[in-house]
Amino acid sequence: MRRISPVLQQDGVDPDLISLLKTILAACREIAFRVSQGELAGVLGSTLAENVQGETQKKLDVIANELLKEVILETGVVKAISSEEEDTIVPGNPRGRFLVTFDPLDGSSNTDINSLIGTIFSILPADANKEADDASQFLQAGTAQLAAGYVLYGPSTMLALTTGKGTRLYTLDKTYGGFLLTEEHATIPKYTAEFAINMSNQRYWQPAMQRYIADLLQGKEGPRGKNYNMRWIAAMVGDVHRVLCRGGIFAYPRDMKDPTKPDKLRLMYEANPMSFLVEQAGGASSTGYERIMDIVPTDIHQRVAVILGSKHEVETCVGYHKTN
Ligand code: F6P
Ligand code: MN
Repeated sequence: MRRISPVLQQDGVDPDLISLLKTILAACREIAFRVSQGELAGVLGSTLAENVQGETQKKLDVIANELLKEVILETGVVKAISSEEEDTIVPGNPRGRFLVTFDPLDGSSNTDINSLIGTIFSILPADANKEADDASQFLQAGTAQLAAGYVLYGPSTMLALTTGKGTRLYTLDKTYGGFLLTEEHATIPKYTAEFAINMSNQRYWQPAMQRYIADLLQGKEGPRGKNYNMRWIAAMVGDVHRVLCRGGIFAYPRDMKDPTKPDKLRLMYEANPMSFLVEQAGGASSTGYERIMDIVPTDIHQRVAVILGSKHEVETCVGYHKTN
């Protein structure tokens, strides 16, 4: 089985980018170890602090964030980082060629129940004309991403990675200590009969989403003419991983449960990297109204509605959004 560097070299990826990716993965291996130690490592439970998104931080969130921040800035090739757990961007080397955004621990409410969690990251080009502490350098559309991936801390630790030449899956070999290529071309089937959505928010969705899900729930007897199955891991990284492995549609649509926060998922830390991975595996990703990777962010912590997965199913769902 092949290691990461030769695969990326074969794809013609910039050597500095390869070493940056390897550094991020080294931090993820450390996080994987701490996650696997669970209560033994004393990393479960909450801190007393709240992050910028108004959520209580788990100890593991903080640990993962600190680890990633430290090793990424040490590379010297990164001009600044932006993390879901940091209020503001953190400047690095003014001459760095890359910007890194990350969600250090996605699905962190799953930590206390020993369920799926992961780290999501994205790499953007740095603009030589901007200062390292200028947050506006991050406001690039998802189409500008040079690389994106996640590490899933599950029964095995897996990496999904794209540099724009397809999406590949790797598995951490704990005996040798590195990630080995286990799926060369992740391919999301165009059609599916599986959906993932938090149904408890149903009454707060917009009419288009209400109609789409109501039609799925009617199964064989309804307009879609087939029975659908439902899954919900409550960690985007776990739900997207299932979609990459066997297809499906994952949605976190806009809802009016808390009108001050109509969208849940973060564009730069979650939606963009996942959209890049999904599109590179033949799937689609939309807000219902536009392609996620075309959105030019106005704020680093911006949130967005997400509908992604099997192409035909996403297009069908988007179709419902054309009328109100
Ligand atoms: O990061 C936000 C997140 O934890 C996602 O990973 C996940 O898809 C979602 O929130 C879960 O939301 P809910 O708590 O509504 O199930
Ligand atoms: Mn998250």
